[in-house]
Amino acid sequence: MAESFDKMKVEFTGHEESVQALAATVHDSGEVPEKYIRPEIEADPPAADAGGNALPTIDMSRLLDPEFSVEESAKLGSACEHWGFFQLVNHAMDGGLLGQTKADVAEFFGLPLEEKSAVAIPPNGMQGFGHHFVFSKEQKLDWVDLLFLATRPAQERSLDLWPTKPSTFRDTLDKYTTELASVAEQLFRFMAKDLGVDQEALLGTFKGLPQCVRINYYPPCRQAGKVLGLSPHTDGVGMTLLLHANDVQGLQIRKDGEWFSVHALPGALVVNIGDVLEILTNGKYRSIEHRAVVNPDKERITIAAFHSVHLPCTIGPFQELGDARYKTVDGLDFTKGYFAAKLEGRRYLESLKL
Ligand code: OGA
Ligand code: NI
Repeated sequence: MAESFDKMKVEFTGHEESVQALAATVHDSGEVPEKYIRPEIEADPPAADAGGNALPTIDMSRLLDPEFSVEESAKLGSACEHWGFFQLVNHAMDGGLLGQTKADVAEFFGLPLEEKSAVAIPPNGMQGFGHHFVFSKEQKLDWVDLLFLATRPAQERSLDLWPTKPSTFRDTLDKYTTELASVAEQLFRFMAKDLGVDQEALLGTFKGLPQCVRINYYPPCRQAGKVLGLSPHTDGVGMTLLLHANDVQGLQIRKDGEWFSVHALPGALVVNIGDVLEILTNGKYRSIEHRAVVNPDKERITIAAFHSVHLPCTIGPFQELGDARYKTVDGLDFTKGYFAAKLEGRRYLESLKL
């Protein structure tokens, strides 16, 4: 993927300001700059909390247990169709590793800006510490700093952009993303079964489990209700596995036209279907619009691991799933198009419908 990121030549304008540094000055003295103020959220608030955790929970240990697998797979399929999102529990990832991962990313973002800037996104690059989806000086900005890295396949890593502080960072990220990729692979297999499509065909699209991570740091904001951590979007990949790296919530998903707050269970992975799986499944599985809001007092850190297509490939609906309702597109063109489009809900995906 690193190589393909280089091929993409996406032109983000390089928005240099660290939101974390800005948040500190806003906290001490003053007002949030106008370019971060998002009047649309007041007009489009989340629905009154419908009793918290409505999001389906899928239990990996049940998927893997012959006695419960059929029942749990049906639940998985239904979650992918109706929600496009679920929480994965009992995923068997090593607790110590998760703890170390959380500690290392928190420590990285806690470093002075000069030290984080050692891995700043280079001009016209995509990987490193900085911001994505900034195309003009006029546009509104998200209240987030990020660290974006290609993690798989291993030979495509741009290690020069992997932090060396804290000293355990690289090793931890390597182990975390490796374990996560096998969780993703297992999920792809159960999804193929549920869909009744050939497992190897589905797995083939994600051959070698290409993966990148977007580590999001949302600083606290005194005017949290006026800023957005992450604009409404869908993920331009097969599937995303999100880890809450501290215990601060903020993810919202759009279901039946309304925003719902997600309450991630401790230790759970929040999984969502991306645009590619929506296309492959001919719309059966849904790539749901989501956004992140900011906490007034606490920083929020999440690690989104995106599982994307193996290039070169073509992305189009499985024939077994009926008359195609989406165009068949080249995988690299699709990914380029995703990054060249503004983060605007489902707009890019909708443009690929027939
Ligand atoms: C993402 C994403 C949500 C969150 O990185 O694509 O949707 O809560 N993150 O950080
Ligand atoms: Ni996302």
